[in-house]
Amino acid sequence: PVSVFDNQHAASINVAQRIANLIKAKQEKGEKAILGLATGATPVGVYAELVRMHKEEGLSFKNVVTFNLDEYYPMKPDAAQSYVTFMNEQLFNHIDIDKENIHIPDGTLPENEVADFCLNYEKKISAYGGLDLQILGIGRTGHIGFNEPGSAPNSGTRLVTLDDLTRRDASRDFGGKENVPTKAITMGVGTIFKAREIILMAWNQKKAPIIKKAVEGEISAEVPATYLQLSDQVEFILDQDAASELT
Ligand code: F6R
Repeated sequence: PVSVFDNQHAASINVAQRIANLIKAKQEKGEKAILGLATGATPVGVYAELVRMHKEEGLSFKNVVTFNLDEYYPMKPDAAQSYVTFMNEQLFNHIDIDKENIHIPDGTLPENEVADFCLNYEKKISAYGGLDLQILGIGRTGHIGFNEPGSAPNSGTRLVTLDDLTRRDASRDFGGKENVPTKAITMGVGTIFKAREIILMAWNQKKAPIIKKAVEGEISAEVPATYLQLSDQVEFILDQDAASELT
């Protein structure tokens, strides 16, 4: 299903509330909430609202375990552009999550250790019983996570090569496209699909064409987000601008 909100603020609050409800429902049962998280501009308002709920309403993250979708490769965790830095600044530094419950792909590994790391990432998610909820943004190439065009529907966590458009879109953060890493470690489409619930968020006019393809286009590896049409557990949460080309 597709839900369209007046603006990204209202949409972000809705998503944050759903995450909070999941966390609280799990707390009541004495269980952990296993969350798949995304970085980038899109989820910033969701994380800000979760931080507000923690500070003003006492929402606790003690029972929360997180797995981030992706990380650039190579990437040092303390670099300004790393997804570790992003998550710490936007969310983790401001809430009471246990640091050992945070998982983000490791951009520092030698290349011959990456495959083992990726297999282990999958095993860790499975050991927790799988993801309760996966949050996604969408790239203008149609990527989810960093599953660029050509990604297989059953792909697992792996090292991938970033699309040129993706690197161009990231160039501002890195002060030029030539500084953007050419690779990333990402959960696969198959990894994402195993989540019990998936929320894909998109805001602004610049996402309208890719949202039209993702929601209404032919299902194809050329636009990996179209795979989401195959799942009943997926909800697209859009602002009016991102939804403006839908029929
Ligand atoms: C980030 C990720 C990417 C982004 C996508 C959109 O962890 O996996 O798929 O969600 O590139 O990025 P923004 O939100 O910056 O437009």
